[in-house]
Amino acid sequence: MERIRNFSIIAHVDHGKSTLADRLLEYTGAVSRRELKEQMLDTLEIERERGITIKLQAVRMEHKGYLLHLIDTPGHVDFSYEVSRALAACEGAILLVDATQGIEAQTVANFWKAVEQDLVIIPVINKIDLPAADPERVRKQIEEILGLDGDDVILASAKEGIGIEEILNAIIERIPPPKGDPKAPLKALIFDSYYDPYRGAVAFVRVFDGEVKPGTKIKLFSTGKEFEVTEVGAQTPKMTKFEKLSAGEVGYIAASIKDVRDIRVGDTITDAKRPADSPVPGFRPAKPMVFAGLYPSEGYTFEELRDALEKYAINDAAIYYEPETSPALGMGFRVGFLGLLHMEIVQERLEREYGVGLITTAPSVVYRVRFKNGTVKEIKNPSELPENWGLIEAIEEPFVNVTIITPKEYVGSIMNLCQEKRGIQKGFKYLDPNTVMLEYEMPLSEILLDFHDKIKSLSRGYASYDYEFIGYKEEDLVRLNVFINNEPVDALSFIVHRDKAYRRARQLVEKLKDTIPRQLFEVKVQAGIGNKIIASERIPPLRANVTAKCYGGDVTRKKKLLEKQKEGKKRLKQFGKVELPQEAFLSVLKVD
Ligand code: GTP
Repeated sequence: MERIRNFSIIAHVDHGKSTLADRLLEYTGAVSRRELKEQMLDTLEIERERGITIKLQAVRMEHKGYLLHLIDTPGHVDFSYEVSRALAACEGAILLVDATQGIEAQTVANFWKAVEQDLVIIPVINKIDLPAADPERVRKQIEEILGLDGDDVILASAKEGIGIEEILNAIIERIPPPKGDPKAPLKALIFDSYYDPYRGAVAFVRVFDGEVKPGTKIKLFSTGKEFEVTEVGAQTPKMTKFEKLSAGEVGYIAASIKDVRDIRVGDTITDAKRPADSPVPGFRPAKPMVFAGLYPSEGYTFEELRDALEKYAINDAAIYYEPETSPALGMGFRVGFLGLLHMEIVQERLEREYGVGLITTAPSVVYRVRFKNGTVKEIKNPSELPENWGLIEAIEEPFVNVTIITPKEYVGSIMNLCQEKRGIQKGFKYLDPNTVMLEYEMPLSEILLDFHDKIKSLSRGYASYDYEFIGYKEEDLVRLNVFINNEPVDALSFIVHRDKAYRRARQLVEKLKDTIPRQLFEVKVQAGIGNKIIASERIPPLRANVTAKCYGGDVTRKKKLLEKQKEGKKRLKQFGKVELPQEAFLSVLKVD
């Protein structure tokens, strides 16, 4: 164990994590990730078509007689729980900062996650080859913002191969070897999983105590389910079989497990015959934060959508789904996601890899209704909010703590934006003379509404942000109902703060007027609280000689893909006599 080192690379998006990982692999003689991907593309075409994703989650390499395990961490706020579990598998982390950008929101968020796990942190300033690099400014930030010693910083260029040997040496010298008892009962932390058609669901683990080998009867702590191990090994970076994995090591375990849901990230694997007393602390089941309705678009069936979702879910333990019926859209599913990016990934893969056309309703957070009789109901779909307000004590919505890092010239407009979005300011700090860090408490629902686009456009792309869930808070919320030709369209309803109801209702009907194609008859679009109409628009009929249909909105990339697959089938939903395009269902997101 003295000669093992387990580490991650943590960084803001685009600061060079993958490039550095490649260099480390090249330097230590393993094949590079990109080479490997290319090789696999050539040889495993069919498997890829069947949905194997090539994931390099934990690569083993050797340097100066030491075994180094590099554990990958996902790079997006949706997956922050997964990041914390990956870090829990390590003793150290390389904190990578772009020499031209300096510290950004995710650098800080990931730094604190690493500190929580007591990791040794090796600060590295990357991209020093660029003319705009200012390593001394970044070194100061690292000292002042993160409280690390500036003398420990390594200057590097992952692209040019500068500083790579120094980083490898620092990993060996500064990061302590893992502790653990190879003779104690097995205790292995799952930090990732994937589905492999040959091996079944595969768990990536860090073994803390004991050992595991083919034939071992393992047990999952959270469920008590048992399986017999068929194979253990590590990515070198190819999947390579070993005789066993022991305390301190990182690798994979396969045990003919049919469903990735049986090996959840954060859970602990132990020996069924000789179980450990307690699991690795910190497990929690994946908690979907954002829900949307997924329905088959015109030309696809509910059964096709169900099959696609079932197949997809084999590989994604974080997704949640249950059938629902919408008066407007028919039979479909209410699907829970970790966040908006996760939702986009799922939508795209369902359409591209599983060939099903989708209508997606606007994503919504999970609201909590407290009733006067003491019961509490979680609302995953705005249409579930009871109309009978007499029964309701209060409605609560999820809040997040947002950290924003921005050049100082954009501070004013970003503060305005946060205020508009019902943010409560919690912090304001100069990180250096040009950079400010802001902290706000904000409803998660406001982040779903174009926060990302707004902040990027206000700051010309220079501001970055990160957020974490802090809890539920009571707010004055109402449901806006939408009516088309006097019929309520449940799939368009949404929950909004009372103060914003009028503005959003107005913007929504205007948006719908633009997105709903003109019909041969007049269409009336209205929004109201309960049955009380507060905004209304009319879409005039087409004149009889106009036959071309005119669909509003952009032709999205997804739409193009879809059209390639199934010629002539449109992402439309017939509603009564009115055709609603996909854009109409997302109009809710386009209002502020
Ligand atoms: P995500 O995968 O999006 O999280 O990004 P990442 O952090 O893995 O960054 P990646 O390695 O993909 O690098 C982002 C960009 O920066 C790429 O265009 C790289 O070629 C470039 N890059 C990475 N390291 C260096 C460097 O040392 N110098 C220069 N000039 N460019 C670099």
